[in-house]
Amino acid sequence: MSEPITVRLCEVGDLPQLAQREPHPAANYAANHFSRQQKGNYFFAVAWRGDEPLGTSVLDCRPGKLQPELKSLWVYPNARRQGAARALTRFLESEALRQEFTEVFLRVDPANEAAIPMYISLDYTPTGDHRTTTYEYVDETGQRRTREQIDAVYRKSLRLA
Ligand SMILES: CC(C)(COP(=O)(O)OP(=O)(O)OC[C@H]1O[C@@H](n2cnc3c(N)ncnc32)[C@H](O)[C@@H]1OP(=O)(O)O)[C@@H](O)C(=O)NCCC(=O)NCCS
Repeated sequence: MSEPITVRLCEVGDLPQLAQREPHPAANYAANHFSRQQKGNYFFAVAWRGDEPLGTSVLDCRPGKLQPELKSLWVYPNARRQGAARALTRFLESEALRQEFTEVFLRVDPANEAAIPMYISLDYTPTGDHRTTTYEYVDETGQRRTREQIDAVYRKSLRLA
């Protein structure tokens, strides 16, 4: 039987392993999330099976229109459908409770056929609001690009958690 999935906050020693799984050495996604975590009010979680990272996600508790916000959920393609996204989301919800928040928000592309059933299964509901978000990313050639997307806002109450 395979080892269980565990989730914990990212540590500096994890960064080389996470960087290896990024589309290009210039992406620096994990390093950037880790540096925001070091500044506070920002939690960068990593899911593991043994020594193998499965994916990452963020709880951003910094002041903003959606506070706190779950963001940047990414499970590596070869690790999908094993429960890593659910485990990451539950871990970060616990962190939100520890920070004394009573609700959590997130943004999701209304056409995301994998993420939406996952969030619904965890009791998230659409608020009816939409937001245009500009996502920055680095493509496989190392080029920095932006993409604009209209996302639906979802919310979960943590009062019964
Ligand atoms: C969406 C994503 C995070 C799901 O990660 P995952 O680890 O595979 O999800 P889980 O294994 O925890 O799945 C939980 C539930 O979500 C739903 N789900 C996950 N992937 C699905 C898919 N491809 N199609 C339909 N439902 C899906 C299922 O209900 C699943 O439960 P089940 O396996 O018991 O049926 C992953 O596909 C991913 O990283 N996608 C690209 C990035 C992305 O879309 N991020 C979300 C941005 S808001």
